[in-house]
Amino acid sequence: MTVSSAKSISKPSYNFQGTVDQTGPQVVGGKGVRIDVEKEGKVHENVLDAITGAAVGALGWGDEDALDIINKAARTSTYSYPCLISNKPSEALAKYYIDHSPEGAFSAALWCTSGSESNENALRIIRQYWLERGLPNKIKLMSRESSYHGFTLGAQSISWNPRVEPYAPYLMDREKINIQIPAAYTYRFKKDDETEEDYAKRLVDATEKKILENDPNTIAALTVETLPGSSLGTTPPPKGYLKGLRDLCNKYDIIFHLDEVMCGTGRSNPNGNFNCWENYLAPTDAPDIQTVGKTLGSGYVTIAGILIGPKIRSAYVEGSKSIHGGNTYSSHAFNCAVSLGIMQKLKNEKLTANIFKMGNLMGEKLSQILLSEDNIAGDVRGIGGFWSVEFVKDRATKEPFDLSLNIAGRFKAICFENNLNVMGMPGNPDGSCGDRCLLAPSFIITEKDVDEIVEIMAKSVLQLSSDLRKEGAW
Ligand SMILES: Cc1ncc(COP(=O)(O)O)c(C=O)c1O
Repeated sequence: MTVSSAKSISKPSYNFQGTVDQTGPQVVGGKGVRIDVEKEGKVHENVLDAITGAAVGALGWGDEDALDIINKAARTSTYSYPCLISNKPSEALAKYYIDHSPEGAFSAALWCTSGSESNENALRIIRQYWLERGLPNKIKLMSRESSYHGFTLGAQSISWNPRVEPYAPYLMDREKINIQIPAAYTYRFKKDDETEEDYAKRLVDATEKKILENDPNTIAALTVETLPGSSLGTTPPPKGYLKGLRDLCNKYDIIFHLDEVMCGTGRSNPNGNFNCWENYLAPTDAPDIQTVGKTLGSGYVTIAGILIGPKIRSAYVEGSKSIHGGNTYSSHAFNCAVSLGIMQKLKNEKLTANIFKMGNLMGEKLSQILLSEDNIAGDVRGIGGFWSVEFVKDRATKEPFDLSLNIAGRFKAICFENNLNVMGMPGNPDGSCGDRCLLAPSFIITEKDVDEIVEIMAKSVLQLSSDLRKEGAW
């Protein structure tokens, strides 16, 4: 890493986010898998970006083709209010995504501007679906403990995590509408004498019990992240779990909604395509609704979306055939044109296949090196281009560190000093999850990049472990 003096030192911020009083670190450039970041008056050049913002980057930064795609889209796109006049790029993007999903999985899509907005729209689509079918009492929404579905009030209402609690007065009536089901968290909650399948069955049975306790005729939807991201740290669903949930939804006439905002759109697909659930579910078990975001725009445009299964679309087509209202920037022609160009490039240049291979290699190498040494890494988990390391005080008991030690924040800072950009997430206050480091590099990474990430991660874990030992905290 080259460090050069910036023109200005850290100063009060006009932005109202992150650190409100100070400007905090600022990105000032990026090329490929590397970014330049100005921090405390210094510019850190060529930092290896292993998280791409919040798992957003797919093409890498400053991609020349992306710039051409943007240029062309800017010249050819005209804005229209989509509810009154639609456009061709939004149709083309929907068709492309549907054509590159398993046959029959989806039949329509709505494009919006953020993952939170996609989940808000999913809730609205779910409500109208039941109205179209003449079942207005289907109103309850099931979702998991330790889940994250966004930062708007509807999305927060179906999320269960410490970040939601302060907003409780403004959320949905959580007693009447929101039903919490257990997290699927194999590292901590699978019992030693259980197989993965046994654990999955236990979770599915617990979910069925909740359904029966809450009157299935009043339950509208069940929402889960296929591969939970910021909330639990890329813990893959145990074998048979998602299929078990799908079957429950079929049995009790409940909409099965997968949130793939962070793990989808090519980050973790085994077939060189886009959906993460293809790792775990047959095409006939596709979700009824799926929300996506992040790598759909690869950081070049703000775009997210809702994929609609045939069952949902049919109810609308056989019913009112229309949706009253919409967001000003839904189906935004420019955003959709850019996203389509990006998705085509990801697929045509086999970058979705590359990230699956390189990401899994990164995970394997990290597991080998971190778990074979004496350090604070307790678990390394993930799939494709989305991985996490969970830190524990004691590997045998899995006891997490006290939150006051700020393990996640300190680890992120050490990595940064070692020229690696990662995300650090604090553990749950009730001890149900430890501090985590998240990795989601861009789809273009090479084996050399993987080795560099692994080497810096290993060095940083040892550094923090040794600091904690000196402090008597480990
Ligand atoms: C699973 C999941 N859903 C929804 C969101 C919200 O997306 P956005 O931040 O684009 O609103 C996120 C963001 O990280 C997410 O991880």
